[in-house]
Amino acid sequence: MSAVLATTGLSVRFGGVHAVDQVELAAEDGQLVGLIGPNGAGKTTFVDAITGYVRYTGRVELDGRDLAGMPPHVRARLGLARTWQSTELFDDLTVLENLTVAAERPSVLSLAAELVGRRARPAESPADALGLLDLGSLADAMPSELTQGQRKLVGVARAIAMEPRLLCLDEPAAGLDTRESEDLGQRLRQIADAGTTTLLIDHDMGLVLTICDRIVVLEFGKVIAAGPPDEVRRNEQVVRAYLGGAAAAQQVEQAAEEKPTRAGSA
Ligand SMILES: Nc1ncnc2c1ncn2[C@@H]1O[C@H](COP(=O)(O)OP(=O)(O)OP(=O)(O)O)[C@@H](O)[C@H]1O
Ligand SMILES: [Mg+2]
Repeated sequence: MSAVLATTGLSVRFGGVHAVDQVELAAEDGQLVGLIGPNGAGKTTFVDAITGYVRYTGRVELDGRDLAGMPPHVRARLGLARTWQSTELFDDLTVLENLTVAAERPSVLSLAAELVGRRARPAESPADALGLLDLGSLADAMPSELTQGQRKLVGVARAIAMEPRLLCLDEPAAGLDTRESEDLGQRLRQIADAGTTTLLIDHDMGLVLTICDRIVVLEFGKVIAAGPPDEVRRNEQVVRAYLGGAAAAQQVEQAAEEKPTRAGSA
């Protein structure tokens, strides 16, 4: 297996705050990697850094290529797709049109990507991406007609429609009910099994522990644990740091049980 994403010494500072502090994180081809940690741990900032939205020090490699100095649209063209913690959709476009505009690549961007190296694979049909998340029946709906959960799923479908090398999902299950969350989990697992390397941020421990191949835990910008779900959920530092105290330990245990319980979301 080869690393699709590899960071070394990745750091982001906001004034005196070390939002991301010397993070080493690798996602191998086809892996589903969970990135968890308490509020303010630096998860979103990590994704902002690798996708080019904040300045960082250290190194970010996609398929072995150093992305230093590349702006977000070039990184996107090379195959880095992301969703945002709050899903923005174009309210005057239908669901399908929202995916189509994201999958389209203006020629100037293609040219830039060719100049810097390999092209991303051609976009899968936006309709296929909707189908993958069972959203086909909503293709012609307007965003205003969607539930919060459906809006989140459309955001995920939009990122998938770009057929990325690395799919970064920032709390895709926030706002989903338990059934929707479990369903999303199954579909993310299928998408990873079909070869899409995925980085999943979520506070839903049940979701993350159930579907991820590996989990990386951040606290105050630093990696405090990394490994398979079984190992990470038994890590005392994780239980203490992530949720704090005995109640938290219980939540992590619950989440690890066969039928996952939601551990709550921020
Ligand atoms: N643009 C910014 N300017 C200054 N500080 C910031 C900025 N963005 C994030 N931070 C700080 O960086 C730290 C990491 O924040 P970040 O949003 O990455 O955490 P998070 O793990 O995504 O949290 P959450 O689970 O609440 O989404 C926090 O201390 C936050 O206040
Ligand atoms: Mg965040």
